[in-house]
Amino acid sequence: MTSDPARRNDLGAYWMPFTSNRQFKQSPRMIAAAEGMYYTTTDGQKVMDGTAGLWCVNAGHAAPRITEAVQKQVAELDYAPAFQMGHPKAFELASRLAELAPGDLNHVFFTNSGSESVETALKIALAYHKAKGEAGRTRLIGREKGYHGVNFGGIAVGGIVNNRRHFGSLLTGVDHLRHTHDPERNAYSQGEAEHGVELAEDLVRLIDLHGAETIAAVIVEPMAGSAGVILPPKGYLKRLREITREHGILLIFDEVITAYGRLGRAFGADYYGVEPDMITTAKGLTNGVIPMGAVMISSEIHDAFMTGPEHMIELFHGYTYSGNPVACAAALAALDTYREEELFERAAGLEAYWAEAMFSLKGLPHVKDIRCAGLVGAVELEPVAGQPTKRAFDTYLRAWDKGAHLRTTGDIIAMSPPLIIEKSEIDTLIGILAESLSA
Ligand SMILES: Cc1ncc(COP(=O)(O)O)c(C=O)c1O
Repeated sequence: MTSDPARRNDLGAYWMPFTSNRQFKQSPRMIAAAEGMYYTTTDGQKVMDGTAGLWCVNAGHAAPRITEAVQKQVAELDYAPAFQMGHPKAFELASRLAELAPGDLNHVFFTNSGSESVETALKIALAYHKAKGEAGRTRLIGREKGYHGVNFGGIAVGGIVNNRRHFGSLLTGVDHLRHTHDPERNAYSQGEAEHGVELAEDLVRLIDLHGAETIAAVIVEPMAGSAGVILPPKGYLKRLREITREHGILLIFDEVITAYGRLGRAFGADYYGVEPDMITTAKGLTNGVIPMGAVMISSEIHDAFMTGPEHMIELFHGYTYSGNPVACAAALAALDTYREEELFERAAGLEAYWAEAMFSLKGLPHVKDIRCAGLVGAVELEPVAGQPTKRAFDTYLRAWDKGAHLRTTGDIIAMSPPLIIEKSEIDTLIGILAESLSA
């Protein structure tokens, strides 16, 4: 450690997010550069990115169009206030996203992250009902094991216990559907799980309990990523759609992971054939290059706000960086890249190969379940007795040493490579995981 404060780098100052800080700082994994499918560490090792960063670098690292667009935009228009003012790229991007989004999700609200997209959608849901004269609809329904970011609304409707238990009573007026994780009945599923459609009726239970007239919205991830790739049971999302529609409740899909090609379609809503009232996104929107999120909103919801005197602000919500010009440039270039390189189609074309490679891990030590959808895969492991999460984390560290970056959640290893991955790289990635599991 140097005594020159300008050059000091003792690792202690940076409190790292969602990280075992003490373990990491004893044995840091530091990235110096990234290109395509690979990171280069500060000591010159090449490591394959098996997770597209944090499920966001869908076009691979340093995609040239995005790099150029960002460089050009910073020089041309670095920032423009987002309130009562606009710049052309924000409108262009919103139009492009509205075109890409399913059905009548024709309006877009910009945020800076997945967490902010979730807060935005929840607030719009509440304000929508109020605007329609149903101010009593204040209850928000999430689902056990759901991940909706880390802000208060998101952790309140979320269902990952450690993300909630340390932070007090959270939002009131929230309830949760039962989760759909059922490895006993649904082990080794792809796309959708065979069993569990009846779990959608849990929403009817909550409606009976609270009264539909008190419920504003239901928010679910169509495929729950962060809790360990939990696939929706066949027919489950369609049934949620029927029940919400019947009772005037909004359905929000949190697609921060599943949007922008992860499942081989623009949105998980397309993959599963169910159209919600709002979709929250972030991550792949800019390929992870610049922080940005976007909420896709139906015309019906949007139009309910466009009443009253025209000089009045219709929605008292927004961020200093909503529609930031550099973020918009990155997102437009990311959408161009996805389209011109046909990356969503590419992901769809690789889905079967990916699933076959993933399922080849069946039978390796401690493997309890494997689940896949699009270019997402998870291996669930039997925990070490009395030491939950250790088995998966040790496997992750072994894989890192062998040159692959994976992700763990509990005793589940999750993978979501950039959509540019080659078949030979799938073989390498799964080969490294196989060796790491067998070690
Ligand atoms: C479904 C879902 N919602 C919200 C978030 C939060 O996104 P961010 O970390 O950008 O706030 C995530 C992040 O993984 C997510 O997977």
